[in-house]
Amino acid sequence: MNKAIENAQNIHDLRALARKRAYKMVFDYIDGGADDEKTLKHNSTAFDEYRLAYKVLAGVDKIDMSTSLLGTKIDVPFFCSPSAGNRLFHTAGENAVAKAAGKIGTIYSLSTLSSVSIEDIAALTDGPKWFQLYVWKDRALVKEMINRAKAAGYTALILTVDLPVHGNRERDPKNGFTIPPTIGVKQIWEAIKSPAWVWDYLTGEPIKYANINSDLEATSLIDFIGAQLHAGFTWDDAEWLLGEWNGPAVIKGVVRTDDARRAVKTGFNAVTISNHGGRQLDHSPAPIEVLEDIVQTVGSDAEVILDGGVRRATDILKALALGAKAVSFARPYLYGLAAGGEAGVDKALDLFITSLKRDMALLGARSINEIDQSFICGKR
Ligand code: FNR
Ligand code: LAC
Repeated sequence: MNKAIENAQNIHDLRALARKRAYKMVFDYIDGGADDEKTLKHNSTAFDEYRLAYKVLAGVDKIDMSTSLLGTKIDVPFFCSPSAGNRLFHTAGENAVAKAAGKIGTIYSLSTLSSVSIEDIAALTDGPKWFQLYVWKDRALVKEMINRAKAAGYTALILTVDLPVHGNRERDPKNGFTIPPTIGVKQIWEAIKSPAWVWDYLTGEPIKYANINSDLEATSLIDFIGAQLHAGFTWDDAEWLLGEWNGPAVIKGVVRTDDARRAVKTGFNAVTISNHGGRQLDHSPAPIEVLEDIVQTVGSDAEVILDGGVRRATDILKALALGAKAVSFARPYLYGLAAGGEAGVDKALDLFITSLKRDMALLGARSINEIDQSFICGKR
């Protein structure tokens, strides 16, 4: 493993390494958020409002981090959120993330907009896999995709609902970001600054949306999403979709109790509280702020997952204490990927494992089911 990655002490260090290696437009696509990026920052800083009141003399020589989600046993209470086009960040792409997740015994969720196909990922790992759906305007394509995911052994469907249209991410047009990326006169200086990325990109397989026939011209994501995805999708359509899928399903992108209640009534088995990592509506609430109310509303009928802003094991502990069954995250493993391929993803996941184990011992919790509200002091 590259020494700098090996020496990374935390996710912030991996972010700095990603910034160094990746082409600027690609790093900014991972790192950026909508408008003034208030929600992007707030997702993480909102965790600071809560304190952890640890127990002493709890006999913490053995720590069990395992739990389950939708009936799947997982070795850690976190998993990799879906993220688009991972081969943009490093040629190791989705393969690296799926393998890394499998190695630590957690779920990998594949994005509709992945740069490796549903079937290729399925062939790569026996680990638990979920498929994330964006709804295409073309209903036949939606049906085809969920049938492919089912046939390939993905056990749950995640319907992401916080992207009816693309958010206003101002770094992207400033950089001239397109998929696939272009290296024009305007970007030549940035290309010179990231030679390893540029070399891999120019010599590697072309990057495309691997789940569709997509020999596209370089297009901005905002134009692609506007042209292809169905902004008119409603709760009635979600009901239709669940009928087609006919299996465990997660709704991702909820921040309100009424939407959570409606999701459960519609038939979703889990609710992911998320604002898409601050990439969609700026000034939306941080997931941790709305977690307790949503757990109170639907917690006895559905599993609640917190997604967004998790950078430290203490963030995971706070979410679990306030009632989340598990958390998920994207940028932490994407920084690792952009910094150094599979070794970087392994490092990101290992940082969470090592620190969660230590912090559970410091908290005085021997297993996940011992983590309850009594550990939270301060805001509640
Ligand atoms: C995402 N996210 C995302 N979500 C989704 O449902 N489908 C997708 O294709 C993508 N693509 C995507 C790309 C990139 C580069 C990022 C950073 C994020 C959102 C993701 O699943 C998750 O909700 C947030 O990233 C969570 O916030 P953190 O963990 O990045 O702070
Ligand atoms: C993003 C989309 C594709 O956040 O989910 O970039």
